[in-house]
Parts: sequence; structure tokens; C-alpha cells
Amino acid sequence: MLKSHRCGELRKEHIGHKVVLAGWVHRRRDHGGMVFIDLRDSSGIVQVVFNPQTLKEAFHTASSLRNEYVVQVVGEVTLRPAGTENPKLATGEVEIVAGEVVVLNPSETPPFYVNEDEEVDESLCLENRYLYLRRPRVRDNIVLRHKVIKFIRDSLDAKGFIEIETPILIKSTPEGARDYLVPSRLNPGKFYALPQSPQQLKQILMVAGFEKYFQIARCFRDEDLRADRQPEFTQLDLEMSFVDEEDVLQLMEELLTSLVKTVKPGMEMLKPFPRLTYMEAMERYGTDKPDVRFNLELRDISDIAADTDFDIFRAVLNRGGKVKGICVPGCAHYTRHQLDDLIQLSKDYGAQGLITMAVTAESSGTSGVKSVATKYLTQEQTEAVIARFGAKSGDLLLIIGDKSEVVNKALGELRCEMARRLDLLNHNLLAFAFIVDFPLLEWNEMRSCWETMHHPFTAPQQKDMPLLDSEPGKVHGRHYDVVCNGCELGSGSIRVHQRQIQEKIFKLLGYSEAEMQDRFGALLRALEYGAPPHGGIAIGLDRLVMLLAGEKTIREVIAFPKNQNAEDLMFGAPSEPDKEQLDELNLKLKGS
Ligand code: AMO
Repeated sequence: MLKSHRCGELRKEHIGHKVVLAGWVHRRRDHGGMVFIDLRDSSGIVQVVFNPQTLKEAFHTASSLRNEYVVQVVGEVTLRPAGTENPKLATGEVEIVAGEVVVLNPSETPPFYVNEDEEVDESLCLENRYLYLRRPRVRDNIVLRHKVIKFIRDSLDAKGFIEIETPILIKSTPEGARDYLVPSRLNPGKFYALPQSPQQLKQILMVAGFEKYFQIARCFRDEDLRADRQPEFTQLDLEMSFVDEEDVLQLMEELLTSLVKTVKPGMEMLKPFPRLTYMEAMERYGTDKPDVRFNLELRDISDIAADTDFDIFRAVLNRGGKVKGICVPGCAHYTRHQLDDLIQLSKDYGAQGLITMAVTAESSGTSGVKSVATKYLTQEQTEAVIARFGAKSGDLLLIIGDKSEVVNKALGELRCEMARRLDLLNHNLLAFAFIVDFPLLEWNEMRSCWETMHHPFTAPQQKDMPLLDSEPGKVHGRHYDVVCNGCELGSGSIRVHQRQIQEKIFKLLGYSEAEMQDRFGALLRALEYGAPPHGGIAIGLDRLVMLLAGEKTIREVIAFPKNQNAEDLMFGAPSEPDKEQLDELNLKLKGS
């Protein structure tokens, strides 16, 4: 080793030790005739002092050092002079008095500061990922990710789970996104698909008798990217035989709780994890991935609105829509400009408009409100609205009438935005919650067909089985989600394990016999050979680490993420293939 100690590990007990350190120049300061170097390695930072009185040559070298030079330093650990300690550094009580310094490799000036955590243009930090990863915060995220994966592996191993790798070159398995395709040289004109998830494979492992499987699985989905979506991402994927919903949910609650206690002991959780049905979540939060850290819950006032003279609301209700709202505390004083901003915001979220009702000091008691809507409401109706929200003087009601989906979406978003603006979010709380009782299917208006809420392998709830033929829209699935702070963290279900039911669901989804055979023949056949009842879940590992690290995007917890265009800016992927490669694959690009 070119070093005897790691920079970040040096403490008072090392005082008097002669050490050899190697790392990067994090920062150089020339101060009072001395040179101070913050030397950084993967363990942290320590201060090194060069004194011109005692060593001329080393001082000279130290004076020429620039940020990110790689150096080796020989020196002695000493106590920092009183008053110069740095409580922000773990090594802040000591410093190294240098004897020698060797430049192992100089560095160009980096295109952004490595030693400051200021925001950098996304392209720059993706192109120069090795420099961005040197930032202590980003490095800590990657270390946290390692700890999370290690914890998961150890815990599941202790519970008898077996980690099994599944292939990356497979046949398409539907998870609702487009597949990435890989042409086969040996089978001209044919393509593999990269797995959107190991769904069918893990079910087949249950048929194979493993009973408890897990995998830290790489998944690939060609879909539009967002802060919490990457084209390739990682799941904690697991599956168990002979279980019901309760077994999977309890396992997840135990695993997530012990994980947080181990890797982020200071963070709080709601215990037990709240459980909401899909309907409840939609009614109260407008979304199936609610942030339950704060209230601002949606309230339905359709019944009150139906009797008013407010034509807009009445028209909406006549068309089968809803009138709902949220009560924002302490915002009754909002100016016209601020209210216009909220109206615009609700339009951005898809609503046609927003009715605001300010419960003012003079109106409280007399139950009046300041709003364009008041002239259409009787005194009793106004009072009923205020009572429905439990609104107090000083509160602002934000009300939307539209199609149910539009109302829920816009108010759900508005609710979260108002919580951010009013600083209602407890950043130290990881509010995990389970969403259960999803409908099995939803009707796609555009394509006039049934689609699954989860995926086609989810079992219908036993009590709803008779409805599969008559009213499929009313069937609930044995599907559950784990959400956390407004993010869908994981999804799973108890699966169909009988061929005839699986076929029935495929038929409901509009698959022909031939399509069924072509796409799902292997699974259907496997189900005929004593497939055990089974179920499982997949947790988005990138999202989990993002939440634990307190980051806003999963790109901050992935060593080499892609940009919004699914490009790898460091290596320049995707790139154009050589003509020979295309010829070998029997492919021709359009227009060439
Ligand atoms: P699902 O498709 O819901 O379920 O995915 C499970 C979890 O994976 C994460 N995830 C993503 N993370 C980052 N980027 C993406 N593009 C992305 N897409 C999904 C989310 C999500 O909750 N096979 C089923 C699971 C099962 O039934 O067991 C599945 O993949 O956190």
C-alpha cells in the first residue's frame, strides 16, 4: 500500500504516530506563511500543514499543489493548536505536520468545484462523472446504497431467502413500458428483450420449488424519464410460495423498519405502517401514492354543490363529475396575485379552474367567506362547506369541480405543492404506507379495452371471482403497493397460480389464443405442473436509497445514470453501430 492510514480515520489517539497518507488535494490554503492542504481519500478529509521553517523543499512542492492533484504525504499526527479545531470534520481535532510530499499525479482544473456542493449543469456532471462522484455527498450516497444492499442481502439470507440471478437476454415480459430490444446475430431477424422485471422468471422459480427467492435485479424500461425514473434501474425483487398478502406486507414492514434503524438511525417512521385502500387513498389524497406526512386532505362537497345555484359545479355534477377541495391553513390573506398563481397552478395540473374561498376574521362566526362563489351559495350552504373542511378563520379553501380523475389529480398535486410552500414536510420522517385493494382492471377509453392496474399475473380477490365474467371492472386484485413520502416505492401481488384463471385474465385483456401462447406459453405450461400459491413484491432500490439519502432524484444515488434523453454522456451511448456490426446482425438502418 502507498499509505499507512486512511485520512478520515485519524483521531486524537493517533497523536505522535508517523503516518503515510495518499489522496486528493481537496483544498489548498496559504495562511500566515504556512500552506494548509485538506487531503481527501475515500474515508474522509484531514488537514495537512506545511511549515517553511522546518522543510523548504516540501513547502515549495506544497505551494504548487492544485485542487485534485494526487499526492502522498509523510508526516506526524499532532493536536491542532487550541482554537483552530474544526468540529465539522471527523478528524477536526488533529492535523498532520508534513515531512515529505510527493505528487503522484497532477490534475487539470476540474470543470466544476469538487469541494463545494453547489449545483452543476446536469450535462457537466454526467460527462465528468468521476469528478462528480468525488463530491463527499455523492460518495456518501453511493456508500449508503452499498450498505442498503448489504443489509437487505444479510436480512433475507437470515430469513431463508435464496438469491438467484435471472437472465438479461429474455423474451418480453409486460410491465407497461416499451422493451429494449437486442438483435440476435445467431438468429437473424430475431430479437431478445431486456427484462422490464424478472416477473415471469421469479414465478417460474416458485414452480421450481425454491419457495423464497430474492434478487437485486437490474430492470430495463424504455419509457419517458422523470426524477424518479431511469431506463435501467434496480429492484429488490422477491417472491415467496405458500403466502398471502399479510405475509408479504409483514416481511416488508419488518425489513424496511430494521433497514432504516440500521442505516439511518435518526429517521422517524409511522408505526405500524398505515394501510389505505386504493379508494381511500384516491378520496383523501387524490393519488394512489399519497404523502401521508401531512394532512391537507381532500374533502368531497359534491352533495352540497349539487343544491347551489353555481352552474359550473352543477354542470360538472350532472356529467358524473365531482366537486372537492382542500383547506389550506392560514392563507386567507392571499393577495389577488397569489390566488391567480394558484389558479394557474391548478390549470398546469390539468384542472379547468379553481375556486378559492377565504375564511376571513370577520366572516368567521357569521360563516361568511370571501369568494366569487358566495353569491351562488346560501348562508347554510356556506356554513356546510366550512364545516365539511373544519375550516377556521384565516384558512383558504381551494375547490375544483371536474371529472373525478381531473379533480383528484389536480388537488393531489396542489396539496403537495401547498405543503412544500408552507413548509409542512417533516424531512426527518419516512412515512411508509401500504395501499391495498386495487381494482384488478381499468378501462382504457382510448383503446376501448381492459388493462391491468398492476400486471396480468395478479390474482383476483377470491370474493370477486364471480364478477370476472359479469362485471370485470368491479373485481379487486390481490395487489399491494408500498409508498413513502409521495413516491411509489414498490409494488407486488399474490399471483394467479392456476392456468385456467390466468388464461381467463389474458382473454379479458384481449389476447388471442396465439398471442397468449407466443408471449406467455412458458408460464402457462409451468402453471400446469403443480404451481404453488405464491406472491411477492419489488421495491425500487434507487428510489429507496434516494429517500434514505434525502435526495430529490434517483440520479444522485446511481453511480452512472443516464440523462433525460436516456443518454450516457460520459461514454456517448447510444451510438451508431459500425456497418460490419449491422451486417453481422442482418440489420439495415432506415434511409441508409
Ligand atoms: P413495478 O413495475 O411496479 O412492479 O415496479 C416495482 C418498482 O420498481 C420501481 N421502478 C422504477 N424505478 C426507477 N426507474 C424506473 N423506470 C422504474 N420503474 C419502476 C418503482 C416501482 O414501484 N414485477 C413487478 C413487481 C411484482 O409484482 O413483484 C414490478 O416490476 O419503485
